[in-house]
Amino acid sequence: MRHERTRQLSAGFAEVYGRQPAFAVRAPGRVNLIGEHTDYNEGFCLPMAIDRDVQIAVAPVTAGRIRARSCEADGEALIRLGEPLAPDAATPWADYLRGCIQVLQQAGEELVGCDLLLTGDVPLGSGLSSSAALEVATMHALLRAAGRPRPGTAIARWAQRAENDFVGTHCGILDQLASSCAEAGRAMLMDCRDCSLQPVPLPAGGRIVIADTGKRRGLVDSAYNQRRAQCEAGAAAVGVAYLRDATLHQLQAAAADGRLDADSLARCQHVVAENGRTLAAAACLRAGDAAALGQLMDQSHDDLRQRFGVTCAELDAMTGIARSLPGCLGSRMTGAGFGGCTVSLVVESAVPAFTESLLARYNQDWDLPAAVYVTGAAAGAGDVDLEDTGDG
Ligand code: GLA
Repeated sequence: MRHERTRQLSAGFAEVYGRQPAFAVRAPGRVNLIGEHTDYNEGFCLPMAIDRDVQIAVAPVTAGRIRARSCEADGEALIRLGEPLAPDAATPWADYLRGCIQVLQQAGEELVGCDLLLTGDVPLGSGLSSSAALEVATMHALLRAAGRPRPGTAIARWAQRAENDFVGTHCGILDQLASSCAEAGRAMLMDCRDCSLQPVPLPAGGRIVIADTGKRRGLVDSAYNQRRAQCEAGAAAVGVAYLRDATLHQLQAAAADGRLDADSLARCQHVVAENGRTLAAAACLRAGDAAALGQLMDQSHDDLRQRFGVTCAELDAMTGIARSLPGCLGSRMTGAGFGGCTVSLVVESAVPAFTESLLARYNQDWDLPAAVYVTGAAAGAGDVDLEDTGDG
């Protein structure tokens, strides 16, 4: 399947542009196992890259412009290098490219003109970081075309800036850093203070199962920004720059003195507890204790529901069904919340029956386009071998 996509991308490029691409790059989506709404508090996350990605075929041109098309979306974007850029409603998918070009040019990178063809199989808008995959893949395409180095952490930071400043979503670094720097076969303990990553093994005999509730994330930006503001209020109330450095005791004292409202206190309590759970989860993985990891995943979801307030009926239903099925060690929402996907840790031998029952039971109650993906941990962004089409 992988090879078939690459072959189609090459063939599509030849059809659209009348010549072969010079090279291709890819960047994966991600699933966060635990550590939710901690990244913008300079806390800890535990994501892994999934085996779905965005791929871009590239051929440099001499003209000072970038032309882009997508296999999945209409329209052609023509972006002149060195000129101020603005979002364009005719090709909204290319705004991620425009943002990346702007950020790289602001960072002093000398870009060269090229033709690009994009393809992606990360489901859109379901919390698996399709936009981060597109941004990180774009960074690789543009930097490789220009013969520039491609440092993983800097690429993640640039991609985040493109999302923050150009697209206007105030996300943290989780998605872009996972897409850029993940290691194959590993989960990554991410310290969002310094963007350092420690690979940790996945549970032997367990599989990661993603379930898309089919509920698209409505109102996510305003609710997300409100949660961020409440976290910032909590940090300010206890006199630290980020909640990473706050304790539960300090937060309670601030609330008791009237320096923090009850709602914000609950949000902040989740963040502090979630940082602890994430470090504990990484320790469980190192110790090979899948059952304990599963319990932490359950606790994380319950806290995101009760104190952080970012789950929804569909996410609660999907995790509830998952937990009731044989072989499920833990289940939680993943990503920003308000819809999108859950992630479950499932004993390998139980996976076929688990996925079938999960979908069947969810579909009894919800008339939404739900889907299940069993995924391994993929490598972070890099090059795609255009020669290796799997024929030989
Ligand atoms: C979204 C954001 C991330 C992170 C998660 C919540 O995926 O893009 O930066 O904040 O939500 O953990």
